[in-house]
Amino acid sequence: MRAYQARIEQVLEAALPSPTLLPERLHAAQRYSVLGGGKRLRPLLVYCTGEALGIDVALLDAPAAAAELIHCYSLVHDDLPAMDNDDLRRGRPTTHKAFDEATAILVGDALQVLAFSLLAADRDSQLGSDARLQMIRILADASGTMGMAGGQAIDLAAVGQVLNLAQLETMHRLKTGALIRASVMMAAVCAKNLPANAREALDGYAQDIGLAFQIQDDILDVEGTTQNLGKTVGADAARAKPTYPSIVGLDAAKERAQLFKRRACERLGVLGERGQVLSWLASYVVDRRV
Ligand code: IPE
Ligand code: IPE
Ligand code: MG
Ligand code: MG
Ligand code: MG
Repeated sequence: MRAYQARIEQVLEAALPSPTLLPERLHAAQRYSVLGGGKRLRPLLVYCTGEALGIDVALLDAPAAAAELIHCYSLVHDDLPAMDNDDLRRGRPTTHKAFDEATAILVGDALQVLAFSLLAADRDSQLGSDARLQMIRILADASGTMGMAGGQAIDLAAVGQVLNLAQLETMHRLKTGALIRASVMMAAVCAKNLPANAREALDGYAQDIGLAFQIQDDILDVEGTTQNLGKTVGADAARAKPTYPSIVGLDAAKERAQLFKRRACERLGVLGERGQVLSWLASYVVDRRV
């Protein structure tokens, strides 16, 4: 995990424009928003799925970085006063606090298109343009109104509302699950001749851990510490956000996260021994305290 985290740090560092380039302040804000923080879960999913499928790691750098750039953009916008209005992210002031709101909006715009530019760039001839197009499509769909942006819209409309479990899960699948799913499925695209049952297993796995991940995020907002998480805890309750703990209670939320984790791991059977790295990652997603 540390090796992959170190790798993605370098890939992101190289992909982001230098802060000495015009417009310097925007480039500095972009780098501030991406570098030096975060668990890098989405890149880990890309790399570990690739490992399970025996894909050359060099092919995975672009999708790993692209997924993380979309994620970082979503966090910068999520923290804006118009959305969750948070001051702390990854143990530091949020981008709009460290810079200003207009810059934070532009950081999101720029990170989003940089993600697609990386996927489109033909740096590695091993991967054909068809695979690149498929990855662009997967990431675009996961980021748009049927994915992250749509989920964020539902999240904002749900403030102060009572959702049932199905509505809550739809929101979570879109706002967080979609990008996690895309991370796994972009790696799957890089595999040559992947059997349909392996692809389906990976897709099911990714959907399950995507949901489990947001359940755990909701749990940690109640049980975690600001120190460990690097973001202000108790923010969901303070803003009357419907969450797993608020709807079904903490114990049932934990059970549900465990259920999705178990189901995710069961699906990996078709990958054999090589799928073990993904079982381990499922535990990391659900049993994490940070
Ligand atoms: C937080 O994501 C926002 C959600 C989508 C729940 P992460 O917990 O992956 O945040 P970082 O990247 O580690 O900071
Ligand atoms: C954020 O969910 C999901 C996205 C950024 C798309 P949250 O609002 O729960 O994330 P945190 O808790 O601020 O990290
Ligand atoms: Mg939010
Ligand atoms: Mg938030
Ligand atoms: Mg949260």
